Amino acid sequence: MARSSIIPSSLSDGLVFTAGAFLALLIFLGLYSFLSPTPIPNRLFSFSPSFSSTSSHTDDTYDPPDETFYDDPTLTYTIDKSISNWDEKRRHWLKLHPSFSGGRERILMVSGSQPYPCRSYHGDHLLLRSFKNKADYCRLHGIELFYNTALLNPSMNFFWAKIPVIRAAMLAHPEADWIWWVDSDAIFTDMEFSLPLDRYRAHNLVLHGWPELVYKKKSWCSLNAGVFLIRNCQWSFDFMDEWASMGPHSPDYEKWGKLQTSTFKDKMFPNSDDQSGLVYLILTGKGGWRDKIYLENEYYFQGYFAEIVSRLEDITERYIEEEQKGPAVLRRRHAEGVFLSYAKERNAELGKQKGADTGPTGWRRPFVTHFTGCQPCSGDRNKVYSADNCTLGMYKALNFADDQVLRIYGFRHASLVSADVQPLPFDYPRSEE
Ligand SMILES: *[C@@H]1O[C@H](CO)[C@@H](O)[C@H](O)[C@H]1NC(C)=O
Repeated sequence: MARSSIIPSSLSDGLVFTAGAFLALLIFLGLYSFLSPTPIPNRLFSFSPSFSSTSSHTDDTYDPPDETFYDDPTLTYTIDKSISNWDEKRRHWLKLHPSFSGGRERILMVSGSQPYPCRSYHGDHLLLRSFKNKADYCRLHGIELFYNTALLNPSMNFFWAKIPVIRAAMLAHPEADWIWWVDSDAIFTDMEFSLPLDRYRAHNLVLHGWPELVYKKKSWCSLNAGVFLIRNCQWSFDFMDEWASMGPHSPDYEKWGKLQTSTFKDKMFPNSDDQSGLVYLILTGKGGWRDKIYLENEYYFQGYFAEIVSRLEDITERYIEEEQKGPAVLRRRHAEGVFLSYAKERNAELGKQKGADTGPTGWRRPFVTHFTGCQPCSGDRNKVYSADNCTLGMYKALNFADDQVLRIYGFRHASLVSADVQPLPFDYPRSEE
């Protein structure tokens, strides 16, 4: 399907190759089982569904003339200058805008892609579908979405580009408690799952990762830097300053590359990268960042696509079986506006069934499927993946997710690889027995 051009292996190819190869090795060695996710808890919601829409309570027509950080001419959105006293500045703004505070924690999802058209044949369409997938998830969960297509700091390119964007987003959204960075090639494959924010109460940064691999194996792929939650607070500005100081914008960029390569024996390219930088900051413990970083691995906070894609059809079948034999709540039609209340009931019901695990051996839908190394836009995918692995895999994951959305609108795809859709009869899927 995708006709990708023959281009010398890029840095990011190398990056993802080792991540993929390392995971493959882990699975091969059977190490994965002790690191693998445990069943997802039945209680996935820490808030009442009546608070599901953040916008319904906020007054966006009111901005008092009182001075705030926005009126400070020395404050910059760029990464050149540090931000100080942010917690106080943010609190002051919230005090002036009371309708934006209180209720459940607010999340701003941030994602983005390059400012130019994609080189790969399917690239722009896959990005559009991926964007739609994020927009769908956000609409269903009352989350705001900022999708950026501008390179805010030209020297902070590739995987470093997100830092300037997240920083600017924190300033533009003082009402957001969390910024949720999601790579453009990460796809939500369980629309009904909500982040267990309660679990992260004492932390400021949440990543998918394995402490054993960080501390014992000192591996640069002990965590994934493509999807994370970062709290909108001073700690995060300070942390990102330090993180960015390892990037191409910094005079110490080369030094960091050498230090990372000597620290991580499995790092196979010389340049400093954001993911190694993160592991380094956790590992060395300098700055005390570690205490505020949560490494999540109990569900697919983000999951490696090669471990997921081939199972999507079976997962679909299993859901149909459970919905056929389960209670009526699993089949009842409902308005999109009350989606979360059904999601909560469905999660509780399905979670009771045997093997209801989101991990590599369970049949529950994986939350996020991340196509690391597929580079759908440039087409410069990692050589270990075929076009089918990546392009077909992405379409499958996108349709798998879209079926969960289309169901609310009364339709589903004829199959995970089909663009055709079929109307759903009343009491589906029992009516199909
Ligand atoms: C790629 O696809 C082939 C053929 O379907 C499959 O055997 C292989 O495991 C896939 N590789 C990955 C990394 O998903």
